[in-house]
Amino acid sequence: VPNQLLTTPFEHDVSRPPRSTWTVQTEKVISYEVTVERNLLEPDNPTLIRAGARREDARPRRFCIADANVHRLYGRPLREYLRRQGAEFRIYAVDASEPDKTMATALRIVAAMDEFGIDRRREPIIAIGGGVLLDIVGLVSSLYRRHTPYVRVPTTLIGLVDAGVGAKTGVNFGEHKNRLGTYEPPVVALLDRSFIATIDERHISNGLAEVLKIGLVKDATLFALLERHAKDLLRERLQGESPTTEAVAREVLRRAVHGMLEELQPNLWEHTLERIVDYGHSFSPTIEMTALPALLHGEAVTIDMALTTVLAAHRGLVSRSERDRVLAVMAELGLPVWHPTCDVEVLRKALRDTVRHRDGAQRLPLPVGIGGAVFVNDVTDTELAVAVKDLVELSESR
Ligand SMILES: NC(=O)c1ccc[n+]([C@@H]2O[C@H](COP(=O)([O-])OP(=O)(O)OC[C@H]3O[C@@H](n4cnc5c(N)ncnc54)[C@H](O)[C@@H]3O)[C@@H](O)[C@H]2O)c1
Repeated sequence: VPNQLLTTPFEHDVSRPPRSTWTVQTEKVISYEVTVERNLLEPDNPTLIRAGARREDARPRRFCIADANVHRLYGRPLREYLRRQGAEFRIYAVDASEPDKTMATALRIVAAMDEFGIDRRREPIIAIGGGVLLDIVGLVSSLYRRHTPYVRVPTTLIGLVDAGVGAKTGVNFGEHKNRLGTYEPPVVALLDRSFIATIDERHISNGLAEVLKIGLVKDATLFALLERHAKDLLRERLQGESPTTEAVAREVLRRAVHGMLEELQPNLWEHTLERIVDYGHSFSPTIEMTALPALLHGEAVTIDMALTTVLAAHRGLVSRSERDRVLAVMAELGLPVWHPTCDVEVLRKALRDTVRHRDGAQRLPLPVGIGGAVFVNDVTDTELAVAVKDLVELSESR
């Protein structure tokens, strides 16, 4: 029973030491908003300054943490924006590429926050950057005075559709990715795709891999949009240079975020290990680490999705023509379906690691047609080897 302290009566059994037990049980309601915005830094747009604030302040104070590259590109408009909104502020720029995703970076941010001084009831901190920056600031927010509200402003496509919308935070430790982390959702996530106009094309493809994931196992309409408009989305970096491509970019983003949140909400703490959003993430952690630094995260995810699509085709879950359409979209999106480092041994090891991670079972999501999925636990080494051979042939014949 939430919010009711359960106690057992004092035990009077003289043969045992006296003992009482209290069971503390409570619920924490999590509620946060994810909003699609445009032109957040336009000087008269009050959205960013009001985000997460309980009330309007005549002179709001804001501590902003920006990825150093983002700061180089958007620092000036951000400063002008905050000035126009009458804020007292500090923008702390921090190198936030994968090697910087460390506790040392997190602690530097903490020191700068301390120096600025934050009233956490009314001064949400603002994180602006890619997945790395958002993950670090999320961790800082959960640690700083045990919880300090923060606003997420993702500036990469991975940030917009994945890292920016969930609850996970973290930094790497030793050889391990995200080894130290917490669940700390932002108070608000503001998704403005204007920022990704300055991302290079390879990173757009990288983000589209996570969009494709949702299309493949959950949303056939999203897949169809990618199939039809891959080239435009990539070339225009989802900026919508014509009314048609604008509508497509908006819808692709909306569907990707909606699909992701629909899966995350009932399983925000990941108690359930059968997660559709893990599609493409069974073999890819090992593929990514083995090929390092050759493959970006989304590229490794795509190889995993290509392999499991071929596996699913062998099992009759996906038709031959569906399989070929999937591989064709991957190519159109500028994503690889294979990499020479992924031999059968690497993939077997990857699956073993995943089984350990998923409490002793494969729980491997496989696509069913386009837009559906099923979890399986019985993929054999032989089956894997056959799928690998098939995929190599298919990728060479393209
Ligand atoms: N918390 C989660 O649920 C979650 C989900 C997915 C990924 N992640 C994490 O996200 C990270 C990957 O994120 P990412 O792909 O955004 O990479 P990233 O944060 O490393 O950004 C990629 C590069 O783009 C630069 N950049 C960022 N915004 C830019 C802009 N608007 N214009 C130009 N350059 C810009 C960055 O400085 C960086 O060099 C990984 O560490 C991963 O673990 C977390």
